[in-house]
Amino acid sequence: MRWPRILALVSFVHAFEAPPAFGVTHTLSFASHNPEDPYDKEWKQPNTDVALYPETQHLALDPSMRHLRPPPPRIPSTYDIFVGLSAFRDGVRCAYTVFTGFKRSSAPDHLYFGIVDQVNEDDANCIDEYCILAKEEWPEEECKYKSHIKTDKRNANDSRGPTLARSYQQLLVGNQEFCLQLDAHSVFTNDWDLGLVEDWKTVGNEMGVLTTYLHNLHDFVQPDGSNKGASYDTPQHLPHICQTMRGGNGLVRNIGADLILGPKAPQLTALWGAGFSFSKCHAEKRVLTDSHTLWMFDGEEFLRASHLWTHGYDLYSPSRTGCVVYHNYTSVPARFEYVQVDENKRKEEREMGENRFRLIVNWPFKGPVDTFELDKYGWGTARSLQQYLNFSGITFEPNKRDEHSCKQLYWVPYSDPSSIEALLPGWNLYSEHAQALRGPGIALGTADDTSSVGMGILFVGVVVVGILLYTQRIKRSLPAKDT
Ligand SMILES: *[C@@H]1O[C@H](CO)[C@@H](O)[C@H](O)[C@H]1NC(C)=O
Ligand SMILES: *[C@@H]1O[C@H](CO)[C@@H](O)[C@H](O)[C@H]1NC(C)=O
Ligand SMILES: *[C@@H]1O[C@H](CO)[C@@H](O)[C@H](O)[C@H]1NC(C)=O
Repeated sequence: MRWPRILALVSFVHAFEAPPAFGVTHTLSFASHNPEDPYDKEWKQPNTDVALYPETQHLALDPSMRHLRPPPPRIPSTYDIFVGLSAFRDGVRCAYTVFTGFKRSSAPDHLYFGIVDQVNEDDANCIDEYCILAKEEWPEEECKYKSHIKTDKRNANDSRGPTLARSYQQLLVGNQEFCLQLDAHSVFTNDWDLGLVEDWKTVGNEMGVLTTYLHNLHDFVQPDGSNKGASYDTPQHLPHICQTMRGGNGLVRNIGADLILGPKAPQLTALWGAGFSFSKCHAEKRVLTDSHTLWMFDGEEFLRASHLWTHGYDLYSPSRTGCVVYHNYTSVPARFEYVQVDENKRKEEREMGENRFRLIVNWPFKGPVDTFELDKYGWGTARSLQQYLNFSGITFEPNKRDEHSCKQLYWVPYSDPSSIEALLPGWNLYSEHAQALRGPGIALGTADDTSSVGMGILFVGVVVVGILLYTQRIKRSLPAKDT
């Protein structure tokens, strides 16, 4: 056993003191929920505010590992972006997502879409509706950018929920550099690609994934595509997913999102939101979405978060720079749960998928389980599931409740960096070169551990967030995903 692994084990035994706070700060405002019923509005506690110090987030809790850093980002001078959408009987809005994507990108020639379009025979489908919009906008061409759109059209009656659709979606990824996943009813704003890549770059981590529940459209997107969110108008405050509960099927479910007030940098998080995920495409290629969890809605996001994390990826809520896409929260026209199939078959398929979840997290279960291709969709080797549970506060131990992660989190160095080192030739977690490159961890300034302690309390915003918080909190109870 190598040293690092021993150190990683030791770090489970000792509670370490957090690194000293320094650098820019922003406030996370969150409400604690009734553990019996997280949606109980009567119980919801007054908002609790905690200060976050994003420049400290790449310092390991364990002082003996505090000199280690995630691999720096590698951004080629030109790059392509892939956007993956899985639509369920939602062709018109899917088309508008694609249309605003091309029209408002700073480099539409470098943009590609991959669409899993699940439709019934008479439904509008995404590509045809897109071509109508494109012909109006760019009449000199039959359907501009059509060659940049790959469609996997499927019979909606064969839909089995988001994980199956997203496993098809991953097959549409080409050799693009960046991959974005959105729900198929999202709206882009002008130069969204520049904002996203800049925010991602700020993270300072090749393994970084920006993810959150997007803000509702409200009137943030102007008719000309400009983004009120990027100016002095709302939204000043951005969603941050940091609380979990058990869903209807007993599996882990995110509780809405809380809010970071005026975020100045992307903020490390433990949880993942399916409606917005932006990373290098190696994440989509290395961490496959497990298709053997049919009908699963609650539980899907936990599986993605924990698989990405154990494969060495780190999740971050975007800052305002990356607040460039909005979500249309108006009810989806149809939902996969109502696909007509034999009820016994549905019940069995669902049970086998849910038990697969229980099996891989070592949770006891009864009944049939799908064990097909467990290795193909296994945990990563960079970090363990145990480490993820500790990091996220999620627990599968009997009679214990999840702790929330609405606080400053600290990067967890890989217990086995070999898979990341193989992915990134020339980079080595323990090499002097990697250590020489270490900065504060994110590219905000030149602060280091000691010189700027106390600079933290720069920003005290007086903000009225009641209404915004309310709309944030209810969003996960809305049908926010459509696959
Ligand atoms: C899907 O199922 C619906 C309802 O059972 C049926 O009306 C429709 O024809 C089916 N569509 C296809 C393409 O098979
Ligand atoms: C949002 O979705 C609703 C319901 O499908 C639709 O009527 C509306 O046009 C959509 N808004 C935008 C801006 O796409
Ligand atoms: C994670 O492990 C550390 C060290 O044992 C402990 O102090 C901490 O409470 C654990 N966190 C959670 C959420 O279990």
